[in-house]
Amino acid sequence: MPAKIVLFLTAFIMAPWANSEPLGLPPLPVPVDNPQTPEKIALGAKLFNDRRFSTTGEIACAHCHAPEKAFTDLKTVSEGINGLTGTRNAPTVINAAYFKSQFWDGREPSLERQSTQPLLNPVEMALPNHDPVLKIARTDPDYQKAFRAVFGKSGEAVTMVEVSRAIAAFERTLIAGDSPFDRYYFGGETGALTPAQVRGFALFLNEGRCVSCHTVEQDHALFTDHRFHNIGVGINQIQDQVPGLATAFLEAKARGANVDKAVLGDKKTSELGRFAVTSLVDELGAFKTPTLRNVAVTAPYMHDGSLKTLREVMVHYNNGGVNRQGERVNAYLSGGIRPLHLTDTQIDDLVAFMEALTSPQYANVATATQTTPQPTTTGSKP
Ligand code: HEC
Ligand code: HEC
Repeated sequence: MPAKIVLFLTAFIMAPWANSEPLGLPPLPVPVDNPQTPEKIALGAKLFNDRRFSTTGEIACAHCHAPEKAFTDLKTVSEGINGLTGTRNAPTVINAAYFKSQFWDGREPSLERQSTQPLLNPVEMALPNHDPVLKIARTDPDYQKAFRAVFGKSGEAVTMVEVSRAIAAFERTLIAGDSPFDRYYFGGETGALTPAQVRGFALFLNEGRCVSCHTVEQDHALFTDHRFHNIGVGINQIQDQVPGLATAFLEAKARGANVDKAVLGDKKTSELGRFAVTSLVDELGAFKTPTLRNVAVTAPYMHDGSLKTLREVMVHYNNGGVNRQGERVNAYLSGGIRPLHLTDTQIDDLVAFMEALTSPQYANVATATQTTPQPTTTGSKP
């Protein structure tokens, strides 16, 4: 066999992620200019956990995306340096490698681009610029060795490009499938779900219409359409102020305001949602459909962490996009959100179904709301 073909075959068979995805997940997308290697992943893990990358020396990425908390912080909204709070709930990084955009409003297109923002955000890691990161990456002896080994670079040649690529490579290892639902649906293991969970799945597909946004494909399920919808969170309460806020935001943006700082620095500006990125009026209050994988261990919920339990989420949907019956829906609400008229038992079944989406490695994560009593009101019923 010609050497060239042998090489090609070896490369194909050795491709680190080929056919190795956990049950229920599609092939992992890896950018051609940032292939996965064990050394790069190890370097990324070290960077992800390095608290020196903040003005107080206390806040690493892992502060808000903690492995023992399913790579989130279980807080309503995140706390950065000096206990400063932002406006948004930290999404888990688990399976973020599959998303077509990053952040609740999708303002960054890739993991490589995403990681440069929290380092500079005044309520997160609050560095004045990326120089302090580069200084450490270029002078710390362990980093010097690692950057040379992984990228063949040292000194000034090490830039944020290499730092971001290593962090992204690490994040691409944080993928998790193999949930009871995966074993049932993709593995053909009929006993993997309880009868309530099976009923919940049927509701998810049919009366609940959940699957129209939280998608399930024939051979995998990411439970997201990668799109943006206004489902009536947060914006309902301030809807009369929205036109004024939108105009003020566009003016600030035209003057060069930074979107990341604007949306995490002001609660009302945060509610503009996808509009802050696209300036499209019909995307006011629209946020990215989050995955539902591991959702039972990543409470609280929604971009503002305003819903504490999966039952509260179900009540919100059942009411047609409002927390309480009688509350006014906002003018920009997605057409896909209407009162569902589900019974109490059906709501329980849907919650049970979502509890079947936890991957085995996160099954023991203690959630922030396990001791919270369940709300007694269930919203509209037939
Ligand atoms: C102070 C808490 C905090 C720190 C520190 C932090 N994050 Fe986050 N992270 C958040 C919050 C809050 C969001 C959502 C912000 C938004 O959508 O506007 C987020 C979003 C993300 C997302 C997008 C996930 C998705 O589903 O869209 C990724 C990936 C991520 N962070 C990785 C990182 C990395 C890498 C670092 C370190 C460089 C980091 N984060 C530091 C709180 C934090
Ligand atoms: C029109 C599209 C759409 C439909 C239909 C829909 N969702 Fe969602 N879902 C979203 C979006 C968008 C968000 C985030 C909204 C926000 O934060 O403002 C979300 C958030 C959630 C969350 C919170 C996840 C988290 O990590 O914070 C859960 C749980 C959820 N949906 C479950 C369901 C269930 C169950 C159904 C069916 C009853 C359903 N969704 C129907 C789009 C949809």
